[in-house]
Amino acid sequence: MQTQRKWFTDRAIFGGCVAWSLLLISCVTTERFITVPGTGIPGATYVGSKECVQCHKDKTEHFAGSTHARLRLADAKVGDTSCEACHGPGSLHVQTGGKAGTAINPRKNPEACFQCHLEKRGEFSLPHTHPLLAGKVSCVDCHDVHKGNSIRGGGAALASETETCLKCHSQQAGPYIYPHGAIREEGCSACHNPHGTVNDKMLLARDANLCLRCHLEVLSPGFNIGGYKSGGAHANAIGSRLAEGTCWSAGCHEDVHGSNVNASIRP
Ligand code: HEC
Ligand code: HEC
Ligand code: HEC
Ligand code: HEC
Ligand code: HEC
Ligand code: HEC
Ligand code: HEC
Repeated sequence: MQTQRKWFTDRAIFGGCVAWSLLLISCVTTERFITVPGTGIPGATYVGSKECVQCHKDKTEHFAGSTHARLRLADAKVGDTSCEACHGPGSLHVQTGGKAGTAINPRKNPEACFQCHLEKRGEFSLPHTHPLLAGKVSCVDCHDVHKGNSIRGGGAALASETETCLKCHSQQAGPYIYPHGAIREEGCSACHNPHGTVNDKMLLARDANLCLRCHLEVLSPGFNIGGYKSGGAHANAIGSRLAEGTCWSAGCHEDVHGSNVNASIRP
């Protein structure tokens, strides 16, 4: 599942970049520079990211190690043009000391991202997704493209992904007396794909498979988790209960994010 998604992503991004560079080349030959459809800076040429450092240190200082810092889409002579890949050719902007209208600011417009991440438009069109195409949530709410790792944030791994989600979903923040270890281990994307899925609540799976990826132990006789020994009864019980619902159906482990009453995240 994961591998397949990654494969798809790579292919789609590659395809997107090919399309993008063709667009760029065709624009260069007609002396027009277009980075994002509908926007452009007539008459401007690429100057390279090094030019941006003098005035935008806050944006450049954490950028070096990031994925997008490796984008080199324009004239090889000017070197790294990654800032301009999203903000348009910068010569006029630099010459005028940042005059209004000389740099593209995509703000929250996802079109700037779809340009290369074609497949994300598809993910955000799935039946269960964040209302991004409706303009209520944007790529940059979750990804800071100016920081080293635009998925996890600049800091220590998973904490920052979870914090990103909790900015808007405070209800899942707890703190719980019995937090679910899944969030500590893998963050919210252990169970949700925030770009969208075919399942309700953007879940990665609609049935017990969501949980069994980590909890195969419940299928073995005599499993012991959190001190609770079932002697196989749980395996039998879930067999019959699961025919009617899921692991998180009412009365079962319905407090999937954490519980204040029960270590087995049940009400
Ligand atoms: C000589 C100083 C200077 C340099 C060099 C410079 N900028 Fe700017 N830039 C400014 C100023 C001043 C503003 C307007 C005030 C602000 O938003 O910070 C600005 C604004 C911007 C904006 C926001 C535009 C908007 O409409 O909101 C972007 C994007 C931007 N710069 C990108 C770049 C990029 C990319 C480079 C390198 C190619 C660069 N800048 C180089 C001074 C500079
Ligand atoms: C992957 C696309 C992308 C790249 C690469 C990128 N930016 Fe941005 N930038 C954005 C988007 C989207 C916004 C608006 C949303 C935001 O503020 O986060 C923005 C906003 C800005 C702004 C104006 C807003 C503000 O907070 O002042 C400046 C200035 C800027 N970027 C400079 C840079 C510089 C300098 C680089 C290279 C080091 C760079 N950007 C690389 C996408 C990008
Ligand atoms: C000019 C092309 C281009 C644009 C525009 C662009 N990206 Fe990317 N992005 C890439 C490439 C290439 C990769 C690397 C893909 C890979 O390695 O799988 C990438 C990777 C990413 C990643 C994951 C990798 C990581 O470690 O950071 C995120 C998240 C991302 N982009 C978000 C955005 C967002 C948000 C925007 C819009 C503000 C955007 N991108 C605009 C080309 C682009
Ligand atoms: C609600 C939060 C959220 C929004 C909105 C969002 N992302 Fe993501 N994105 C994530 C998380 C979390 C991950 C890491 C998923 C994982 O580890 O499985 C991710 C991963 C990625 C990746 C790398 C892995 C992959 O799935 O390809 C790319 C590229 C990416 N996002 C691009 C985008 C773009 C482009 C947009 C806007 C069109 C966007 N994202 C909007 C949260 C978000
Ligand atoms: C910028 C705010 C914002 C961020 C950040 C955000 N979300 Fe959301 N989320 C929303 C909005 C708005 C909705 C739609 C709510 C609605 O339709 O009532 C939503 C809906 C959801 C839903 C479906 C809720 C339902 O009742 O159907 C899930 C699940 C979800 N988000 C998970 C996540 C995860 C996981 C992350 C982090 C990767 C995240 N969200 C980050 C704003 C956000
Ligand atoms: C172990 C899997 C799992 C993890 C990890 C997880 N969720 Fe969920 N989440 C679910 C399930 C299952 C539902 C559906 C519950 C239902 O329909 O009764 C759900 C529902 C939601 C909803 C819809 C409102 C609700 O409670 O029904 C939101 C919002 C949400 N999750 C956000 C998050 C956020 C934010 C994180 C990370 C802090 C997260 N989830 C981590 C499994 C998970
Ligand atoms: C990413 C892996 C992962 C996923 C997916 C996951 N869990 Fe967990 N779960 C954990 C971890 C880690 C613990 C903590 C185990 C420990 O501390 O011994 C845990 C603990 C539990 C416990 C508490 C066991 C006890 O101590 O009594 C229950 C019940 C549980 N999970 C149910 C679920 C359900 C239901 C789902 C599906 C909605 C699910 N889990 C999905 C990793 C996961």
